[in-house]
Amino acid sequence: MSGNSVIEMVDVRRYFIVGDFVVKALDGITMDIRQGEFVSIMGPSGSGKSTMMNMIGCLDRPTSGIIRIDGTNTTEFSERDLAYVRNEKIGFVFQQFNLLGKLSALDNVMTPLLYARISPRERKEIAIEALERVGLGERMKHRPNELSGGQKQRVAIARALVNNPSLILADEPTGALDTKTGNQIMELFEQLNAEGRTIVLVTHNRELGMACRRQILIRDGRLED
Ligand SMILES: Nc1ncnc2c1ncn2[C@@H]1O[C@H](COP(=O)(O)OP(=O)(O)OP(=O)(O)O)[C@@H](O)[C@H]1O
Ligand SMILES: [Mg+2]
Repeated sequence: MSGNSVIEMVDVRRYFIVGDFVVKALDGITMDIRQGEFVSIMGPSGSGKSTMMNMIGCLDRPTSGIIRIDGTNTTEFSERDLAYVRNEKIGFVFQQFNLLGKLSALDNVMTPLLYARISPRERKEIAIEALERVGLGERMKHRPNELSGGQKQRVAIARALVNNPSLILADEPTGALDTKTGNQIMELFEQLNAEGRTIVLVTHNRELGMACRRQILIRDGRLED
């Protein structure tokens, strides 16, 4: 069912020095997530979930250990290489949507494609297709403040899809939504997963976390079983 490793961590540590203290945000994580999986990362506040997401998303580097994305060791990558991995392989979805307020839904969804070597016309076609995919074909001209919370998150998901990422990373994607809207967003992730996309979701919400195919539980920077 599941294929190759999309993410592999080997004894990953991330220590922060704060004054005289060392905060061990991640303290020896070894795990892997395979192509086509739908995984939640759960754990108490301060347990290291966002730190782990930042590692997986190439937004931060480990203090020690190895991280492989699609089989490639990213540990020695330059900032530029990491930016390339982020742009090519990872679609990000955040709690607060992170949409650009002055741009239409369509323009927001097109932004990740600005760096791709494709024509403006093709960019538009891909973005329209992504918006239709999330059920927002009728809202392309709307700006974020003319959309509901759930619609904004759909735009953000469409934006995460346009580069055809091997991995979708979502940190509390339903945290700013009411239960019903949150469930609709979860359904959308389930559909995307059924189409073969790998999804990693951080959530405080036990019900949503348990709805994922597998749970990674973290406490004090270590995995729990
Ligand atoms: N930049 C930083 N500098 C110092 N300490 C940090 C930094 N980032 C995180 N930490 C510490 O690392 C630990 C893990 O933080 P992290 O943000 O990963 O937790 P979390 O599981 O995402 O929590 P929450 O559920 O509240 O979002 C915490 O003790 C936090 O205080
Ligand atoms: Mg967090």
